[in-house]
Amino acid sequence: MKNSKCRINRPYVILSAAMSLNGYISSLDGDSELSNNQDWQRVHNLRMNSDAIMVGSETIKKDDSKLTVKEEYVKKSVLRHPIRIVVSSRGDIPVNSRIITFRPEIKTIIGTTSLCLKQKQQELENLGCVVILCGDGPLVDLEMLLKVLKKDFKINVLMLEGGGTLNVQMLKLQFIDEIQLAIAPVICGSGTNLFNDKYLFRNFKDSPLFCFKEVNSLGDMIFTRIVLQYSPRIYSNV
Ligand SMILES: NC(=O)c1ccc[n+]([C@@H]2O[C@H](COP(=O)([O-])OP(=O)(O)OC[C@H]3O[C@@H](n4cnc5c(N)ncnc54)[C@H](OP(=O)(O)O)[C@@H]3O)[C@@H](O)[C@H]2O)c1
Repeated sequence: MKNSKCRINRPYVILSAAMSLNGYISSLDGDSELSNNQDWQRVHNLRMNSDAIMVGSETIKKDDSKLTVKEEYVKKSVLRHPIRIVVSSRGDIPVNSRIITFRPEIKTIIGTTSLCLKQKQQELENLGCVVILCGDGPLVDLEMLLKVLKKDFKINVLMLEGGGTLNVQMLKLQFIDEIQLAIAPVICGSGTNLFNDKYLFRNFKDSPLFCFKEVNSLGDMIFTRIVLQYSPRIYSNV
């Protein structure tokens, strides 16, 4: 069974995350350090094999991620860095974020809306970012953004690196094709869930069908590659 949403107009989307045993990608105090060395190798190889990486604005504000490929993890002399993409309805990204200041020759795209002030757009462009307006808000129109990324920037494989709020919106739109998940042997009481919306699918029968295609140990973590089929789970037993 194929995903119900056609992929001609958008990239193939791989959600990648490191998660606690009970589903959190960051703790209440904002700790998101869940990956071990082998998982970082996986993440950086996936980054190198993707055309772009996309995150939500909160991930940039909290982690100040560079979203580049680190040589020590991929063991290649020539590195290929993907395009970096942040979504923020008002372009609310600190100008000293490393996604902007670190290796400015790597393209950074800000997906935003008409709620983003002209002055802010100009400021981001002056810093070398490409600003794409997608809808009138309150959230970035992800369908429009993905269409532009595919058509104008030739992005065929998009790595989605969270956080939980952006993951939910992408899942609801049926835009996630695959999940690469590393599970760490730790728990926390609360924080940011992989899909951060407590009202999402109030019953398990409403959940999309997730198919485990691969399960391996990754040092002290478990790695699984999951493919999504946006049909009710019940059909898997037919
Ligand atoms: N362990 C891991 O693998 C991993 C990976 C990534 C992140 N994290 C953690 O996740 C946490 C951040 O996650 P989060 O859920 O708070 O935030 P997030 O998903 O990173 O960002 C959400 C924000 O993106 C903006 N946005 C604009 N359009 C959107 C749309 N259509 N859909 C969704 N968001 C849209 C909104 O802010 P605006 O007001 O700017 O529009 C929204 O509040 C951090 O603590 C980080 O450490 C963990």
